[in-house]
Amino acid sequence: MFSEIQLPVNQQVFLPQLDQKEIQLFIKREDQIHQQISGNKYRKLKYNLREAKGNGYKRILTFGGAYSNHILATAVAGKISGFETIGIIRGNELGRDIYATLSQNPTLSKAAQYGMQFVFILREDYRKKMNTHFLKKMNSKFGSFFVIPEGGTNELAVKGCQEILTEEDKQFDYICCCVGTGGTMAGLIKSSKKHQNILGFSALKGNFLKDEIRKYAAHQNNWKLMMDYHFGGYGKYSDALITFINEFRKTTAIPLDPIYTGKMMFGIKDMLKKHLFPRGAKILAVHTGGLQGIVGFNQRLKNKGSNLRIEI
Ligand SMILES: Cc1ncc(COP(=O)(O)O)c(C=O)c1O
Repeated sequence: MFSEIQLPVNQQVFLPQLDQKEIQLFIKREDQIHQQISGNKYRKLKYNLREAKGNGYKRILTFGGAYSNHILATAVAGKISGFETIGIIRGNELGRDIYATLSQNPTLSKAAQYGMQFVFILREDYRKKMNTHFLKKMNSKFGSFFVIPEGGTNELAVKGCQEILTEEDKQFDYICCCVGTGGTMAGLIKSSKKHQNILGFSALKGNFLKDEIRKYAAHQNNWKLMMDYHFGGYGKYSDALITFINEFRKTTAIPLDPIYTGKMMFGIKDMLKKHLFPRGAKILAVHTGGLQGIVGFNQRLKNKGSNLRIEI
């Protein structure tokens, strides 16, 4: 797994809003580091899988929604690294006809191709998924396993995310990232320099996020959560967001996903329009991947009768 990684490039982006104030914007193409274990997923899994291997585990158990980037990345990384993988998936209705589910869901069907076994659970039970009773039940069904939390975030994931920024990146005044569970942002904060501002664009409403981030990055205050660009919550979108993603790709050749990176770039562009970055600022936006989700997202648009699609 680890030898296949491509080092990400910082790709400069040219937008009309940048010229007036001599602002420079670069995107760190973490999405290109691996075909399936892209972006922050590789960073989060790296030390977790090492820990699991070091402790003699043969099986990884983790959690996610039906279109989760983390679920697919764990299935692939697990397969490559010689683990069995178990995905606890939110939504027991998906388990009623597994063949129908897999035929309609590209994320789960790919994860299944990489050998992941699924347990579909009720949404109410999903909230209690980390309790000992549930884990014991899974233990008697599958045998012992190494647990990686939902979204892949834990101390080891944060450690991996600390490797996203390099020495060369200290030239940037602003580091922007997407926020789901907060692990990626915590890693960026921990590895940032004092003069840098870390801006986390939340993909969900999440009032809990500040505390989550503080849990991992308690000693630094050079960060801010941007809560105005979640488009109504996790997985929510507007036509304007989809149009933006398609236009952004046309002008920069950089694909964005609608759940995370599209919202972040929409936010950055909006902040540029509102002159919220100072003259001469150097901004680095981290592209955390998530592109696998576009096919499933387009299917959901089609099922809703929308004519919009994210161009692939
Ligand atoms: C593509 C992508 N970007 C960003 C994030 C947010 O990362 P975090 O959960 O560490 O905040 C996720 C979710 O893990 C993701 O899948």
